Amino acid sequence: MPISEVFSRYVYDSRGNPTVEVEVTTETGMYRAIVPSGASTGIHEALELRDGGQAWGGKGVLNAVSNVNDIIGPALIKENFDIKDQKAVDEFMIKLDGTPNKSLLGANAILGVSLAIAKAAAGEKKIPLYAHIAYLAGSKHAVVLPVPFLNVLNGGAHAGGHLAIQEFMIAPVGATSFHQAMQMGSEVYHILKRLAMTRYGQSAGNVGDEGGVAPDLTTPQEALDLICDSIEEAGYAGKIKIGIDSASSEFFKDGKYDMDFKNPHSDPSQWLTGEQLAELYINLVQSYPIILLEDPFAEDDWAAWSYFYGKVDTQIVADDLTVTNPIRIQRAIDCKAADTLLVKLNQIGTLSETIEAANMAFKAGWNVFVSHRSGETEDTTIADLAVGLQAGQIKTGAPSRSERLAKLNQLLRIEQEIGDKAIYAGINYRSSLNL
Ligand code: PGA
Ligand code: ZN
Repeated sequence: MPISEVFSRYVYDSRGNPTVEVEVTTETGMYRAIVPSGASTGIHEALELRDGGQAWGGKGVLNAVSNVNDIIGPALIKENFDIKDQKAVDEFMIKLDGTPNKSLLGANAILGVSLAIAKAAAGEKKIPLYAHIAYLAGSKHAVVLPVPFLNVLNGGAHAGGHLAIQEFMIAPVGATSFHQAMQMGSEVYHILKRLAMTRYGQSAGNVGDEGGVAPDLTTPQEALDLICDSIEEAGYAGKIKIGIDSASSEFFKDGKYDMDFKNPHSDPSQWLTGEQLAELYINLVQSYPIILLEDPFAEDDWAAWSYFYGKVDTQIVADDLTVTNPIRIQRAIDCKAADTLLVKLNQIGTLSETIEAANMAFKAGWNVFVSHRSGETEDTTIADLAVGLQAGQIKTGAPSRSERLAKLNQLLRIEQEIGDKAIYAGINYRSSLNL
C-alpha cells in the first residue's frame, strides 16, 4: 500500500525539550511516532539534529522537522515503496542522508519516519506492531514478555545530588507474569520512597529524569541499602534482583573515574583507575543481589572492559560502548568486553539497523536489553520492540511518570492480548530465545 502523506511537527519530551513527531498516512489511516532523546548520550551515537542558536536554548528541531516535510517525505512518496518492506525504506533514507552518522538529515528525522512506517505496515497487515517487528526480525514467536528493569533510584546526569552512578534498577525476576512483576515493582517503589524520605528528609522523595527517587547520596552502598531494605520490607527478598547502570562515560576524566564528578571542586587525587573501579564493582556484587552492570567503564576504555569481563558472574551490558552500532558491536564481541547489548533505536536511527544490531548480538550468544532514553514521550514503540525481538528484558524507568509507564502499560496490554500463550521471561530472561 503506498504512502499518501508524510507529515512532521515538533512536540515536547519529558524534559520539556522539543522533539520530532512524524505522521505517515496510508489508505488504512494515520500512524504516528515520536522520537526520544538521551542526556548521557554516547559520543559514537548517530547525530540528533538540533538547531542551535537562541531558541529553546539551542535544542530546537525545526531543521529536522523540515527535513522530513521537505526532503524525506516527498522522496519516499515518489519512490512508491511497499511500506511492508522496512529494509528498503530504511536503506533508501540512509542513502538519501549519505553520511555515516545520519548528520545531514538527522537521526531524529530519519527514525521518526522509520517507526511511523513500521506502524503503518502493521496497520496494513492488521496485526499488532510487536507481531510485525517479530516478522521483520525473524523471531521464533512474539509471546515473550520482558523482565522490566525498573530504575527506582536516579543519580548521575539524571538527577541532582552527588551520586555518580546513574541508575539503580529493580528486576522482579521471581514473578510469574508481567503484571505480577509490575505489582511487585510498584509496591517496592512506594516503600523505597517512604524509606528515602525517612532517612534523608522530605526532598529525598523527589524524582529524577526517569521517575526514580533521587536522594542526595554519595556512595552506591547507601543506595543499595535503601533498595534492599525496601525489597525486604515488601516481602520480595530473593524474588527481586538489582541492576546498575553506571553510565561511567559521564565521569571518565583524564583516564580516571571521578565518583564526585558533580562537585565542581572534586579532588583529582581521589579519582579511581579502571582497576580500582573494577574492585568497587566486585565488592558490590559480593555484598548485594546485583545481576546486571551496564556501562561499568567508559565508551572508549576498551582495555578496562576486557580486563573486567569474566571477573564477576553478573550480566555485563554495553550501552555507550556499542551504541546499537554493528561496527562497535563486532569489536565488543571480538574483544569480549560484555555479554549483553543495550538497544536504543535513536542511537542508530532506523528500525532495520536496530533489528540488525539485536540479531548480531543474539548470534554471538549475547542477550538483548531494550531501552528507552532519559528524555521520553508517550510513544510506546519500545514495548512492542522488546516483545518482537524476544529480548527478555527492557528498561523504561521507574513505575512512575507517564512517559515511563506508557511503555509498561503497553506491555500490560500486550500480555493480556496474547492471553494464555504469554510467557513472562522471569528467571529465564537470559535465555529468552529458548522460551
Ligand atoms: P540516556 O540514559 O538516555 O540519558 O542516555 C540512559 C542510559 O544511559 O542507559
Ligand atoms: Zn546506559
